[in-house]
Amino acid sequence: MSETENKTPLVELRDISIAFGGIKAVDHASLDLFPGEVVALLGHNGAGKSTLIKIVSGAYKRDTGKIFINGEEAHIENPRDAKKYGIETIYQTLAVADNVDAAANLYLGRELQTAWGTLDDIAMEAEARKVMGRLNPNFQRFKDPVSKLSGGQRQSVAIARAILFNARILIMDEPTAALGPQETEQVGDLIKQLKKEGIGIFLISHDIHDVFDLADRVSVMKNGQVVGHAKTSDVTKDEVLGMIIMGKCPPGAIPGPGALQTA
Ligand SMILES: Nc1ncnc2c1ncn2[C@@H]1O[C@H](COP(=O)(O)OP(=O)(O)OP(=O)(O)O)[C@@H](O)[C@H]1O
Ligand SMILES: [Mg+2]
Repeated sequence: MSETENKTPLVELRDISIAFGGIKAVDHASLDLFPGEVVALLGHNGAGKSTLIKIVSGAYKRDTGKIFINGEEAHIENPRDAKKYGIETIYQTLAVADNVDAAANLYLGRELQTAWGTLDDIAMEAEARKVMGRLNPNFQRFKDPVSKLSGGQRQSVAIARAILFNARILIMDEPTAALGPQETEQVGDLIKQLKKEGIGIFLISHDIHDVFDLADRVSVMKNGQVVGHAKTSDVTKDEVLGMIIMGKCPPGAIPGPGALQTA
């Protein structure tokens, strides 16, 4: 039995559904996430991964289902609600403002002010150094505009921005899709650091190797339904590929409603 099984999940999604027109983009999906855990959400294009996480981040409103945060039902109707519950989202598109430095990015739209109502650049840079030091101690380029940084450094600024405002739940939708191998590794190190801080992460990735390197568990979706959930230590990469491609649930996984019925 794992250490997580007795605890209350940080996030529990129960029976979530949403349809666009006649298409069931997410069809009675249930999954959970524990503190300090990385759960990879896998599946083919159009499986419903992004739609499901957009429901958690408040970008879409679900048709049915419930969301529990720390065991209590959460009312997430829009992105602001989600932030209130400590949910932040990082997309592949490196959503940073290019022409300003890291500190300005961290505080974009939520700038710190001095007692005189002017921008408190000193306080913002000091906080930026603190949070970046926690995440990526090698990062020193506080004076450069973000456009001069590497993709991995830019992604660490985006992640720092999320955790600066006390994210407890981080959703990463293909965070390394726009990055090279070295920068991907850098983001992997960041994820490991966030885990240590007890942050729970939903990671959407197409890279099965990254997933096995970073995720504690996988949840696989197909045609909007959950095929199954498994600890990465209980299944092989080939078995997970079988879940993704055929919807076939191996013995080490817990089947969901989308699992291929073989009996
Ligand atoms: N805003 C929308 N309006 C209409 N249909 C949508 C919308 N968003 C998603 N869909 C449909 O819902 C289904 C699930 O799409 P979704 O983007 O969640 O898949 P995904 O698993 O994230 O795929 P990918 O790996 O390509 O990112 C698809 O059939 C998609 O066309
Ligand atoms: Mg997607």
